Amino acid sequence: MSVRPRKIKRHSRTAARFVGRATDATVDLTRLLDIVASFPRQTICVVGDFVLDQFVSGEISRVSREAPVLILRHRRTESYPGGASNAVNNLADLGARVLPVGVVGDDEAGKTLLEYFRRKRVNVSGILRSHDWVTSTKTRYLAGWTHTAEQQVLRVDREPREQLPTRIQDSVESKARKAAKSADAVLISDYGLGAASPALVRSLDAKRITLDSRYRLLDYRDAGVTAATPNEPELEAAYHSAIGVDARKLEELGRRALSDLSLQALLVTRGKDGMAVFESGAGKEARSHNILIYGPDVPVDVTGAGDTVIAVFTLALAAGASYLEAAHLANYAGGIVVMKRRTATVTRAELDAVLRREATAQR
Ligand SMILES: Nc1ncnc2c1ncn2[C@@H]1O[C@H](COP(=O)(O)OP(=O)(O)OP(=O)(O)O)[C@@H](O)[C@H]1O
Ligand SMILES: [Mg+2]
Repeated sequence: MSVRPRKIKRHSRTAARFVGRATDATVDLTRLLDIVASFPRQTICVVGDFVLDQFVSGEISRVSREAPVLILRHRRTESYPGGASNAVNNLADLGARVLPVGVVGDDEAGKTLLEYFRRKRVNVSGILRSHDWVTSTKTRYLAGWTHTAEQQVLRVDREPREQLPTRIQDSVESKARKAAKSADAVLISDYGLGAASPALVRSLDAKRITLDSRYRLLDYRDAGVTAATPNEPELEAAYHSAIGVDARKLEELGRRALSDLSLQALLVTRGKDGMAVFESGAGKEARSHNILIYGPDVPVDVTGAGDTVIAVFTLALAAGASYLEAAHLANYAGGIVVMKRRTATVTRAELDAVLRREATAQR
């Protein structure tokens, strides 16, 4: 039985520190630029839990007389793809051909997601729409004065009460198997809602499979996963063990996950503390590397940063990057996306521009 990890976001309260150049001399930026240039030639299948991220913002008008709560004057409601669909959205903006596979409900949120992707010319034939399902929606209420930054005051989640019906699981599996065959990589985004599962992954015939699983990383052992991208709290929860500031513990758990899941690589995202990459060498001892974050360590909005990371990591692997090169690219993308408000994406042009700037600075 896996434990639901408590999500710990490491927000610094001190002034922003530009940690900056993640690029050390060992990173070949020309090579990274070539990899990014070949993104449009890759096809990535994304299987997982589609979520709608909603942001309702309002101006603080007064305190209610009914109860001691703020009354907000509604400014706007914005909706973005979240969860697996955020990975899809990032891949589309990175120029890849994306084949999303998942399920939405026959409801407003499902319609919004499908319309969003149709407008972006993403192939939605792999997204099932079912009467027996509720599209998972996360609504954030943001309050602010006219000239101040908005602050989240409440989040309301709408989630299906029951498990995904077996009949729908089977349809998702058959769509995934078909899409996986023509893809250069399959990205699994398991947020615990049931569209992706270890059984489904085991049934895939794919060139490479990357995995992000919020609650059951270790259930994917022997599922044929190539690389996984847990955040540090997820790795801690998987082994019921705290890492904290203990670098040796991180090293120990990273190596354990690499071996328990028979992975080629493990990318552990560590919020403002960067990333740790573990690689299993053929016949050799596993290698590990630490990567510092790119950019300031006080983010604007970390919503969905993990989805951007796995999208770039997967796409780079499909394009022929080594695990370390793919991790460096994902790290740049993570640094860019946390400086944007709401659930955001990184475009290929943005990634290209950052790499060119770094290359100039390195000379
Ligand atoms: N506080 C921060 N400062 C700078 N960069 C950050 C910060 N938090 C996250 N990032 C960037 O975003 C990446 C992914 O963040 P994080 O480790 O929080 O993933 P996650 O918890 O899986 O995210 P998600 O909420 O999408 O699941 C980090 O590796 C880093 O590049
Ligand atoms: Mg995550």
